[in-house]
Amino acid sequence: MPGKIAIAVVLAGLAGGTARAEDEAAVPEPMPIGTMSELMIKLMYPASDAILYVESRAPTNEVEWNELQAQALLLAESANLIMMPSRVVGDRDQWMRDARLMFDAGAAAYEAALDQDLDALIALNEQVYMSCVVCHRRTRPDYGRNYKRFEDPPSAEPRVP
Ligand code: HEC
Repeated sequence: MPGKIAIAVVLAGLAGGTARAEDEAAVPEPMPIGTMSELMIKLMYPASDAILYVESRAPTNEVEWNELQAQALLLAESANLIMMPSRVVGDRDQWMRDARLMFDAGAAAYEAALDQDLDALIALNEQVYMSCVVCHRRTRPDYGRNYKRFEDPPSAEPRVP
């Protein structure tokens, strides 16, 4: 038994040494932590909701405007997260174009939020909404069946969460 432990210790030491050598040699690259589903549910969904429901949840002070700016910035930057090579789903060019729609919508919303321009944010609702729909239509086979909120085509009626 002690012999086995000794071997394990030696092996662990070797493995550790190798890992350290690699750490020094390798230049860090962006690495995914969340799954695509986690990014959608935890980042994009709440970020886009902040814009889609801006009319009924209009910011009334600086703190709330800051929060809205952060959500809009998150929406735009989330597009960069899903553009990471390891996150591409299906045809790469199409995926990048679809993600770019969300980037553009988020960037425009961020500008409007910086200007504290409520009308501009309301006007961006459709663009934000469509940026989700376009990609989902293509990449999610179950789309529209068990995820009713983003129905296809979008109704003109106000959405109920
Ligand atoms: C470039 C493509 C793309 C864009 C843009 C996109 N999505 Fe998604 N979305 C996906 C894919 C792919 C899935 C399926 C993920 C999975 O289940 O692995 C998904 C799934 C989801 C889900 C369901 C997750 C689950 O597991 O139940 C939600 C919610 C969601 N997206 C919200 C959004 C919202 C909100 C937006 C727009 C602000 C958006 N997505 C924009 C590709 C995209």
